This record gives sequence, C-alpha cells and structure tokens, in this order.
Amino acid sequence: MGFGVLGVFLGLLLEVSTHGPNAVPRTSWRHQDLDLMEFSEPGIFNYSTLLLSDKRDALYVGAREAIFELSKKNVTVKNNKVQWTVAENPMVMCTLKGKSKERDCLNYIRVLQVPQCDYLNLADFSLDRQPEDGRGKCSFDPSQSFTTVMVDGELYSGTAYNFLGSEPIMSKYSPSQSLLRTEYSTSWLNEPSFVFADVISEGSNRVDGEDDKIYYFFTEVSVEYEFFGKLLIPRVARVCKGDLGGQRTLQKKWTSFLKAKLVCSMPELNFVFNVVHDVFILKGADWKDTVIYGVFTSQWGNVGLSAVCAYNMTAVEEVFSKGKYMQKATVEQSHTKWVRYNGIPPTPRPGACINNLMRQQNISSSLHLPDKTLQFVKDHPLLEDPVLPIGNGPRLITKDVNYTQIVVERVRALDGNIYDVIFTGTDKGVMHKSVVYEGEVHIVEEIQLLKNSESIKNLLLSSETRSLYAGSDSGVVQSPTAFCGRYRSCDDCVLARDPYCAWDPDTAACVNILDTTKQWLRRLIQSLNGDAGKCPSASGLSVKDYQRVKVKPGSSAELPCLVRSNLAQVMWKSNGSVLTEASRFHFIAENGLLIYSVAPEDQGHYECWSVEWAPAAGKNFSRLLAGYVLSLILPPRAPQQAGHVTTSLISQETSSTQAAEGNGKTERALLTSAIAPPSFTATAQFTSPPQTDSSLTPPPSSTIRFQPKHLPPSSNTPGSQDSRPPAAEYLQHNNSTALLFLFLLFFLLFLAALAYNCYMQYLPAPCLRLRAALLGSHKSAHQPEYRACEAGLMEATAGDKINMTEQPTQNGSQTTQNLKALRDTGYETEPECGNGRVPSHTFGDDSPSQEKPFDVDPDSQSIQFADADEPNF
Ligand SMILES: *[C@@H]1O[C@H](CO)[C@@H](O)[C@H](O)[C@H]1NC(C)=O
Ligand SMILES: *[C@@H]1O[C@H](CO)[C@@H](O)[C@H](O)[C@H]1NC(C)=O
Ligand SMILES: *[C@@H]1O[C@H](CO)[C@@H](O)[C@H](O)[C@H]1NC(C)=O
Ligand SMILES: *[C@@H]1O[C@H](CO)[C@@H](O)[C@H](O)[C@H]1NC(C)=O
Ligand SMILES: *[C@@H]1O[C@H](CO)[C@@H](O)[C@H](O)[C@H]1NC(C)=O
Ligand SMILES: *[C@@H]1O[C@H](CO)[C@@H](O)[C@H](O)[C@H]1NC(C)=O
Ligand SMILES: *[C@@H]1O[C@H](CO)[C@@H](O)[C@H](O)[C@H]1NC(C)=O
Repeated sequence: MGFGVLGVFLGLLLEVSTHGPNAVPRTSWRHQDLDLMEFSEPGIFNYSTLLLSDKRDALYVGAREAIFELSKKNVTVKNNKVQWTVAENPMVMCTLKGKSKERDCLNYIRVLQVPQCDYLNLADFSLDRQPEDGRGKCSFDPSQSFTTVMVDGELYSGTAYNFLGSEPIMSKYSPSQSLLRTEYSTSWLNEPSFVFADVISEGSNRVDGEDDKIYYFFTEVSVEYEFFGKLLIPRVARVCKGDLGGQRTLQKKWTSFLKAKLVCSMPELNFVFNVVHDVFILKGADWKDTVIYGVFTSQWGNVGLSAVCAYNMTAVEEVFSKGKYMQKATVEQSHTKWVRYNGIPPTPRPGACINNLMRQQNISSSLHLPDKTLQFVKDHPLLEDPVLPIGNGPRLITKDVNYTQIVVERVRALDGNIYDVIFTGTDKGVMHKSVVYEGEVHIVEEIQLLKNSESIKNLLLSSETRSLYAGSDSGVVQSPTAFCGRYRSCDDCVLARDPYCAWDPDTAACVNILDTTKQWLRRLIQSLNGDAGKCPSASGLSVKDYQRVKVKPGSSAELPCLVRSNLAQVMWKSNGSVLTEASRFHFIAENGLLIYSVAPEDQGHYECWSVEWAPAAGKNFSRLLAGYVLSLILPPRAPQQAGHVTTSLISQETSSTQAAEGNGKTERALLTSAIAPPSFTATAQFTSPPQTDSSLTPPPSSTIRFQPKHLPPSSNTPGSQDSRPPAAEYLQHNNSTALLFLFLLFFLLFLAALAYNCYMQYLPAPCLRLRAALLGSHKSAHQPEYRACEAGLMEATAGDKINMTEQPTQNGSQTTQNLKALRDTGYETEPECGNGRVPSHTFGDDSPSQEKPFDVDPDSQSIQFADADEPNF
C-alpha cells in the first residue's frame, strides 16, 4: 500500500529541494561579532514569555518560576524580580497525576498581560498570592501550544481545557461573565496547535456598526482531506468581541466561531506549506491596510524549507463574510466526507457579528440570534473558501531553516516608499532580516542572536528602542534592528539594500536613517535596488599600496582575500587578466588564492575583486578588495632567521596564528584544503624582508602564509573590514549531504516496505513467485494482484453491514470498532488501497446530502479516537 504516495513524496521532496526557489542572506553576523545585550540568571530557564510595556519603559519576562522586569533600553539591567515557586501540596498533587517533578510540576509563566492583569502587582512588583483557576485560560503543560490576547480587560486564549491536554478550547474570560468557549467537537477544533491571537478593531468610521473581531491562528488535523495519515492544515478562526453565546442553542459557547484554511503554497511545484508556526499582524491606520504575516514549514520537516506568506486583511474579511460553508456528509453509509454546503444558509448569516442591519431586526446581541442560525453555525464551523496569500504565493522561501517566529516593521526609505522589513527567528538561534522590493524578496542579513544553537521562542520588536527582543530557553537577547555601522564602504552599505541604512559621504560612514535628522537625510545615499553606482568613486588601492609578497621558487603562496557578502563572487586578476580555476597551479579558495609551486612566470600583480550581482539594479558591481605584488627570492641561499617552521599538518593553524604577531614572518606547512579563518585583514602593507629556507622542506608542498598588519583606520579601502570567515559553520547553506541521506533513508524504507509486502503476499505476481520460490509455497504463486487489498475492502464492507444491522459477529466486531472510531473523527475510512492522494484543491464530491446536525457527545467522542489514526506507511 501507499507506494504511489511514497513515490510522489520522494519526487516532490527532491524536486522542491533542488529546484525550489531559495533566498540566501547577503551578510552573516556571528554572535561573537556583535556584542548584543543579553540577560539570564543562573538556574532559571525558559525565558519564553515576553511583554513590552510602553508605560513603564520595561520588558517583562516570564520564565520558569520567575518574572523579571528588565529595562527596555538595556536588557542587561534588571529592575525587578519576583519568584513564584510551587507550594508542597500542589506539587504532590501534580506528581501524583503522573507528571515530572523537575519539568512539568513547576510554574511556568505563560501569560503576561498589562495593565489589566490582577495577579502581578506592578506597583511593588509582588504577586497577589491568591491564585485563580487557570483552567481554560492557560495550558497545564508548559510544552503545549498556547496563545492569549487581552482585549478590553477580557482574556482570550487558545489552550487545552483539561489536565491531559486532550480537550482543546478557545475561550474568553472576563471577571464579570462566565467563560465563553468553543464546542468540544473535532469539527470545531481537531488537535490544534495555537500560535497566535489578536484583535482587529473596526475603528470608529465603520458604517455598518460591526463588532471588533479576534482572530486565532493555529495548525490542526484536517477533517476535509482524505489522507493516509494525519494531514495538518493551517487555519485562521474568527470570533466577535461582543459574542455572549446563544440563548438555548450554544449556551456559553461562541455563536460567531468560524474558521478557514490559510493557504501558503508554491502552486507551480504543487508544494504546500501546511504548518503555521507564528503570525504577526502588521496593523495599519485603517483595518483595511492591515497585513497578516505568517511563517510556515511543511509537515514533512526534512524538506528543510520555510516560507513567509502575507495575507490581505480585506481578503480574510471577505472569506468570513461571504465564504461558502462546508458540511459533513455521509457517503455510502460508511464514510464521512466534508463537502461544500450548496443550500441557502439561514439568515442572519451564521457566524456573522452583530451589525446595524441585525439590530434593525431587533437582534442586538448573540442571545437574540435565532436557533436556526445557531444550529447551523454549530454544525458548519468550517468555510470552504480558503484565505489566499498576497501574490498567490510565499513572500519568502528559505532552504535549510525552520522559522519559528516573525515580526515585521514598516520603514519609510529615502525613496519615499514604505517597505515591510520581515524579521524571522529560527530554531537554531539565528534571525533573518528580509525586505520585499518590487515583489522580490531580499534577505539583507542573518544574525546569530543566541549564543547556542537553540530555538527562538519569542521575538518582539520595539520601534521606540529600535530593538528586537528574543526569548529562548536560556535567556533574553536584545538586538538593534539594523547594523548599518558595520558596513564600512559605500558599496557595501548600498549593496546591503537595508531600508534602515544609508551612506553618508561627508563622514564616510553607513548610518541608520532613523538616527539622522531630517535636514541631513537628503545628502545620504541609499538605493534599495542595490545600485552602488550612486556611490562616489572610491580612490581605492593604488599599486604602491599593494602588498609585496616574496617566495622562493617552487614553494606555494597564499594570497588572502575576504569577501563579506554571500552574494558576491571573487575574481582574481593577475597582470590585469582574469584568472580562472583552470589555470595551472592556481586554486581560488574561499579565503584567498593559492598558488602552488611558484614559478618565475607567476610573478607579477595579483588583484582580488568582489563581483556582486544586484538583480534589482540589473548590474554587476566590482570592487577591488586586495592587491599583491608577487615576486621570487633570488638567490634563495640564506639561513633561516625567524618564524615558525613546521612540516606538521596539524600544527598549521596554531603556528600560523602565532606567526600573526610577527610582521612578515613566513610559515611553511603542508597544504590543506580547509583554510583556517584568517586573523588578518586583506589589504595591508607588507614591508619586512622575507625569510627563506633552503634545506628542510621539499619545495612543491610548502605554503607561505602572510600575516600582515591591519590597515590604518583612516584608509578608505573597501577591503579594510573586520574579518569574517564566510563559512561559519552554523550559517552554511549546503544541504546536499542531508538530501542524500534523506534519499537513502526513503530508499531503505521503500525496500523494507517492499520486502514486507512481498512477504505478506500483498504484491503482484513476480514478487510472489519469488516469495514462493524462497518459501517453497505454491499456494500463493498465482494470487492476483492486490487480492489482499480487495479482501480488506470486502472485510470492511462486511463490517459496515454488521454495524448497520447492529449484529456484530465475532469476525466483524473489531472492524466495526475501527470504522466507528474513524467515522467519529471525520476522516479517512477507506481501506488503504493506494488511496492516499496528495491534497488538491478540489473537493471530490459535491453532492448535497441530507443535512444532519451532528450532536457531539463528549463521552462518546473520546479523544483517543481522534488520536487513533496512525500514519500508515
Ligand atoms: C547596559 O548595561 C550594562 C550594565 O549596566 C552596561 O555595562 C552596558 O554598557 C549597557 N549597555 C549599553 C549599550 O548601554
Ligand atoms: C525549559 O528549558 C529547559 C532547559 O533549556 C528545556 O530542556 C525545556 O525543554 C524547556 N521547557 C519548555 C516547556 O520549554
Ligand atoms: C488588500 O486588498 C484590497 C482590495 O483588493 C486593496 O484595496 C488593498 O490595497 C490591499 N491591501 C494590501 C496591503 O495589499
Ligand atoms: C422590534 O421591536 C419593536 C419593539 O419591541 C417592534 O415594534 C418592532 O416591530 C420589532 N421589529 C422587528 C423587525 O421585529
Ligand atoms: C527542522 O525541523 C525538523 C523537525 O523538527 C527537523 O527534522 C529538521 O532537521 C530541522 N531542519 C533544520 C534545517 O533545522
Ligand atoms: C606579469 O608580467 C610580468 C612582466 O610584465 C611577467 O614577467 C610575468 O610573467 C607576468 N605574470 C603573469 C602571471 O602573467
Ligand atoms: C556578473 O558577474 C558574474 C560573475 O562574474 C558573471 O557570471 C555574470 O555574467 C555577470 N553579469 C553581467 C550582466 O555582467
């Protein structure tokens, strides 16, 4: 079974991984390069709840068993702390329920909301020691997904209601009313992972008098697609702020709960990003200018692709106010399917918020809604129309990262246009900063925010302090939104295409435009398409600045050259003509040029150029980074004076670093292809006389490394930047080994499945003959193809008949059980005969079947059933 599907996936994964679009960050910043402000306290973990307060100029941090108040301007400054430990009694109760004392039974701060939160007294920063029931407001288990938003003193959460975490709930809690919640039913919420919730205010100028709305974002198990396992679906759900529940139907339940599918896919590759991890709502002055950003990955995490999709709020509204409903239909009496509801829904429109029109009909609150409408919304919470992303595809697709968090800031660049700058945090502690320019995305930089490779659990942005705050299990990090000062040349500053940064020709510095007063803005140079041609022509290096390099004949020379941009290519010129890799005895490595066995004709001028293609400008920009004059030492008969001499491969790195202290010492070592990160800058004056050695090493295998001085800071050459190894291990973009591994894994799985199916007689004749030959069985040699599968079908039908007549026989009862369980969850009931299809956008069966409101009985609808469906391959 399922081979077709497996094959499709295999092909899909490979195709997407190799041919899919992919963006590479232009610049990479390592943690140790940046000097970020960090906060953590020994023994305290899980700094995952962050809250910015404008009033108190503070960042509140909820960790395990502690809450901190940090300075928003400098998170290393702690202003307050409160400890919240678990008393002995609850601890015993908790451990008795089978939870871990070290992990699960501690207090985790999951909700921090100001200023309405009663429990944290901000005046003296003490906790009110009268804990209230967190049931329905906060999850019991710290690892469970969970989201909250506080709107006008009412707490909206998406969480689990019971201790085991099996009963999902979206609720509204207010001190004056009883909890308003979702119906407990798989068609409302089916194993959801909540990621975000926020309110969209209609504003005062809304003519139809509609209510404010709270949007929830989550991933849940699909009910509408048939699939050979659990198919996850990203969703947006909506409720109205003024909802009070129904009078008879849906008492104390949402009368306005509706949900729709969020689409984030690459239609051209038929690839779907079906897990949403975080959402950021970029609010405009009018709600119509609001844009929703989400980060997505695929359920099949190994593909290693992450995407950012953006949604127009108007489009979301449209789906909720006009979209078609879906309904559960029973097909062939054994099988539940979700199909489009083609009838005419009752009025007022089920799930709509109360507006002026309804008020005219004397419906001033949800308590007055007719039962017909309420019963309909109870049975039809799912809309058929999906929410499509702006541009019908992702804004950004990145390979080999798992995005976990997203924040977005709007920046007005010097060209007068407004750009959305997207900050995405990964599960490896890295942040990407991207900008969309004319529909194309450009990743400006990647920043290693966290010291260790761990997940960014929370990411906040403050426009006021121009900072990002990242929370992780081990601490909190504050980072500026831009690193303009680190671009040391005009070319670099402009090619970075960072809307925050511009080049100031007067001070010869790359500056943050937000730090610049208005009257100075005009003289700044910025070009978001990366047109570095606007830069004043740099005086650059002249031949007299070139570094002199002298080697003895037959030895090797390494000419270092660092390229900071990941988008640039290195071009080496000797005597003015371009060197290619194919040239004799030349090797262009990441950090420089290697010349093996230097011969007299190799002498001359060598120049290292960076060639950067700026696609938006449609031009290449070249810059001279380093220049050398290579010459031979003649005659080579001089005793060795100084310098570390070694023929050992291993000691190469150490000794060359030591040699860096000396000026002009030479270093001989065996050549390795892995070149150490150089501890020097690329362009330098190289003056002292070189050392020679005539006796020790066989000439062809020796290398000369030069360890020049740093340039004086006044020099305006582009190469005089601080060094950065372009291939820091955490920032690698090469995934070919992983792919190969994935392929092998699938192949082995395939073989195993093949062997198993062959053994189990599920496979066609050739295999069965082989099996027969091996096992010496003649019985199965002529078994027709897929007989086992057919048998399964027959058995299933039989079981179903028995179910209908309610006379379970011994044979049928097991099947009946299974079928019943499957029917209850609303997904796949067909036997596995290669039936698993890749989800497509068509809903196979549109036949309107009789409307049958389903009653959800919490007892029979045990969550074990919803959990029971295992992936089948
Ligand atoms: C932040 O505060 C710490 C401790 O007071 C101080 O050492 C550091 O210089 C401050 N950093 C900045 C950027 O103000
Ligand atoms: C809390 O932090 C610890 C230590 O890093 C980690 O092992 C654990 O998984 C975290 N727990 C949660 C709920 O994030
Ligand atoms: C959203 O869509 C509406 C209507 O199609 C359009 O007027 C508006 O400009 C769009 N907003 C954004 C941010 O794309
Ligand atoms: C609404 O209520 C008012 C007063 O109770 C009544 O006069 C009016 O006819 C009602 N309108 C509708 C549409 O039911
Ligand atoms: C992304 O996450 C998945 C699932 O957690 C993991 O298997 C995969 O290795 C991660 N990929 C990267 C590039 O971190
Ligand atoms: C560079 O030019 C010099 C003198 O014009 C010549 O001797 C040398 O061989 C040339 N080197 C290369 C690499 O072309
Ligand atoms: C830009 O430079 C790259 C690398 O040197 C080269 O492959 C490409 O052809 C150049 N493109 C144009 C338009 O000059």
